Amino acid sequence: MSAERSPTLHRPGLDSLRTVSIIATGSYVPDRVLTNTELEKFVDTTDEWIYTRTGIRQRHIAEDHQATSDLAIAAARKAMENGNIRPEEIDYLIVATCTPDMHFPSTACMVQKELGATNAACVDLSAACSGFVYAIDMARQYIQSGTMNTALVIGAEKMSCLLDWEDRATCVLFGDGAGAAILQARGDQYGILTSVLGGDGKLGDLLNVPGGGSRLPITPEVLADKQHVLKMAGREVFKHAVTGMAGAAQETLRRCGATIDDVACIIPHQANARIIQAISQRIDAPMEKFYVNLDRFGNTSAASVIMAIDEAARKGRIQRGDLVLLVVFGAGFTWAASLLEW
Ligand code: UT7
Repeated sequence: MSAERSPTLHRPGLDSLRTVSIIATGSYVPDRVLTNTELEKFVDTTDEWIYTRTGIRQRHIAEDHQATSDLAIAAARKAMENGNIRPEEIDYLIVATCTPDMHFPSTACMVQKELGATNAACVDLSAACSGFVYAIDMARQYIQSGTMNTALVIGAEKMSCLLDWEDRATCVLFGDGAGAAILQARGDQYGILTSVLGGDGKLGDLLNVPGGGSRLPITPEVLADKQHVLKMAGREVFKHAVTGMAGAAQETLRRCGATIDDVACIIPHQANARIIQAISQRIDAPMEKFYVNLDRFGNTSAASVIMAIDEAARKGRIQRGDLVLLVVFGAGFTWAASLLEW
């Protein structure tokens, strides 16, 4: 017997796809600054090595009592203020992070509680340094279809708690911080035109934190072996970051029928100035097109690209109507690029 469909059933939003824009941003970094020169005092490194190999001069480090959600909340409050958004208006709250406050509940739930965003669905997204671009694309799908109206998307990290401060090959690279974006349908522009997302789990061992999860729970042996901190095969990651980001950027432009000349500003993941230079050569885009602030913040993982977007917008480097290309790469491996009209 075939069930008769109720005439009251409908598929919300699917008849009209909306365009989705970042309407406001905010960011936050902890006060404490750790310079390369200070690092020289307790790590076998030099300011000269760090700067010439990475472009980093300093990074911000959270206080012991600050968790990732504290950084996220501070960034979110600024974005909400800038966008004139009340907490109850937010119906989707995503936190991209690889340093959540705890295994569960999600960092997004902790942010929701403090903001009073009582109408928001809350979820964390784990795609390491690529997380923010994955997250805005996830939010885009919901708003585009009409299922949701206002998303708060945050990239936030306390990378300092995952580092081995005796491993000079990694501890000099990362910093703490958070950035937040409000996404809504805005009818008068294209907003996010498209995103290209990708991953390759076969290469996961090149950048990971082996211990602390269900595979290798924390034991005295795991701690003694330092399996609970970040491990990276830097040179290998470097090569894949260049090919992954360059490929995603080119594919994104191709899908939209755009060229690099149409793009006003490229905002890449802020890991290493040499990676950005290599991408610039591969995609034939002058370095002046790239927004780079890693000299002051280091690699803040999922926070890096939204912190850079927020700064670029505040400085007037990106203007309403500009085409902006976001491109990121991270552990997994994961990569993503997104073309949007600002
Ligand atoms: O955000 C997620 C993605 N992560 C990344 O994108 C990071 C990608 N990788 C990189 O950015 C670079 O590979 C690094 C910055 C991590 C390293 O730069 P590199 O030019 O690839 O250096 P290397 O690993 O080949 O090391 C060269 C030398 C080694 O010494 P020897 O073996 O040549 O004697 C290292 O031991 O530099 C040494 N070294 C250091 N020396 C002083 C490594 N770290 C340091 C340090 N200070 N901090």
